[in-house]
Amino acid sequence: MMLENIARAAHVIRKYNSIAVLTGAGVSRESGIPTFRDAQVGLWARYNPQELATYEAFTRHPKLIWDWYTYRRAIVKNVTPNPGHYAIARLEQLKPETVVVTQNVDELHEIAGSKEVVHLHGLINQNRCSHDCQGYPTLIDIDSFAWNVNDGPPRCPHCGAYVRPNVTWMGEALPLVALNRAWDIAKHCDVMVVVGTSGMISPASLLPNLAHSNGAIVIEINPDVTPISRVANIRLAGKSGEVLPELVEAVANE
Ligand code: OAD
Repeated sequence: MMLENIARAAHVIRKYNSIAVLTGAGVSRESGIPTFRDAQVGLWARYNPQELATYEAFTRHPKLIWDWYTYRRAIVKNVTPNPGHYAIARLEQLKPETVVVTQNVDELHEIAGSKEVVHLHGLINQNRCSHDCQGYPTLIDIDSFAWNVNDGPPRCPHCGAYVRPNVTWMGEALPLVALNRAWDIAKHCDVMVVVGTSGMISPASLLPNLAHSNGAIVIEINPDVTPISRVANIRLAGKSGEVLPELVEAVANE
């Protein structure tokens, strides 16, 4: 069944040009970055990521949230792309109109070689003023000045507000340029491959529905069934690091 579905999916991708790949935390899991639904480990085991990743939590406990990001940044710094990321980059070589839209704040798609990557939830390695005092986003290079880690997050050199990671937190608006681009891609793509996302956080979770209702063929790669499965024309139940290389190999060889 799986092989048959991979062949069907490869055939569809081969046939069309405009391919969108929507990714979530599942695609980076085999690189060693835990997903948002995975239990946290060590010091952070008693916290729920969904509760830490909010502006409200940052306002109340700036040092705690900053320390959590320091921990997450250390994880991201030490990992490398997995075969799933490389397969997506290879797909772009075979089908040059492939575009990646990701909810991931790591840059593993770029490191693997993907050219156009739309980051819906920002980048964990960037920082910005929490008041965006010089306009959105007021990016801050925290290596350009000294600050004491024991005092919590560094302060914006322009206005003195706390510096925060340049990521989208729960309940915050997504960066408009990225969101508009993603919306446009979803409306106009021929095929959307949705990989490793639980489909629980909107507006990213709405993109497969938008693509589907505009006539695109939706292929889902996820070991688990998700709310997106309902609009998936083809479901490949497996790990992205295993399924994607097989799928892209099948596209290349068809
Ligand atoms: P989640 O953690 O919600 O979901 C990860 C998904 O990946 C689940 O559906 C898993 O079944 C699937 N998965 C796990 N391992 C996999 C593997 N090896 N291959 C393929 N799939 C696998 O992650 P996201 O859907 O990305 O937002 O989460 C969406 C957003 O919720 C995140 O960007 C973050 C979070 O709150 C913000 O920070 C705003």
